[in-house]
Amino acid sequence: PTFFDKIAGAPKAELHIHIEGSLEPELIFKLAQRNGVRLPYESIEALRAAYAFTDLQSFLDIYYAGASVLLHEQDFYDMTMAYVERALADNVVHTEIFFDPQTHTERGVAIETVVAGIERALADGEKRGLSSKLILCFLRHLSEESALATFEAALPLFDQYAHRLVGVGLDSSEQGNPPSKFARVFAKARERGLKLVAHAGEEGPPAYVEQALDLLKVDRIDHGVRSIESPTLVKRLADTRIALTVCPLSNLKLCVFDDLKQHTLKSLLAQGVAVTINSDDPAYFGGYVNTNYLATVEALGLADAEVYTIIRNGFEASFVTPAARDALL
Ligand code: ADE
Ligand code: ZN
Repeated sequence: PTFFDKIAGAPKAELHIHIEGSLEPELIFKLAQRNGVRLPYESIEALRAAYAFTDLQSFLDIYYAGASVLLHEQDFYDMTMAYVERALADNVVHTEIFFDPQTHTERGVAIETVVAGIERALADGEKRGLSSKLILCFLRHLSEESALATFEAALPLFDQYAHRLVGVGLDSSEQGNPPSKFARVFAKARERGLKLVAHAGEEGPPAYVEQALDLLKVDRIDHGVRSIESPTLVKRLADTRIALTVCPLSNLKLCVFDDLKQHTLKSLLAQGVAVTINSDDPAYFGGYVNTNYLATVEALGLADAEVYTIIRNGFEASFVTPAARDALL
């Protein structure tokens, strides 16, 4: 087998995937039809043609429009099951999935409906060999009050789905919405013993990564690629082994880097940072986990040892216990 075959066939963990970002255009149109939702796109081709992003916000506008077709528990099941199939095909054995409840509750869909549909698919996936956890993300372009209300509404779910729903995260428009805006809701989540992650240093400055560490006290940083602009921050990440869930094709499509060859993943890895490779929003950015690995290996010329370190980092930075982790491999 070739080096690429070995990577594709290796058991992997995925730690950064927005389930709403796994909605393929075909399923968006199918659900729109099923639910009588009108989309501002004529056809699957017209929707796909709109996937020409210039920055994070240009993507988010289309991503939220796509999610508007999700209304019923079965819709959340179908979306999640389609991702489960893709993950299994890529030999992902453990995945930690983000969902954005506010995207749905703002349209009148109950948070219980959202979680019930996702959970039913993940339980079915588990029977087929895909271990999984779920992370509730707050939308940072909305208010602190909205995040606090979402957290309160989710409290019974953290008990009911304790085996799955293990943490909270922070996503959406980064610039101008610093982690400091969400210090109180993250403190509440921490008091409950939940795991904590936040998107930081994707488009925002290294100072946002430092805020996520100091004010939110996160266990991992999502993206974090702009950390490289601060040598002291890179050293801190390396020393503390706080992992970065890097999403190379996402960074390329959202113009964080002009070319994958300019991606700083290899340099971060060389400086001792616990880097992982993930798909972010695979239906929008051109590929699932294996495509991200292969494109990155090709563009940066990663060696075998570097790739195996990245794969191992994915398991070590995951939220499964060491015993459960060994059982995955
Ligand atoms: N929501 C979905 N994908 C995202 C990303 N890459 N950055 C911030 N918020 C997101
Ligand atoms: Zn993301």
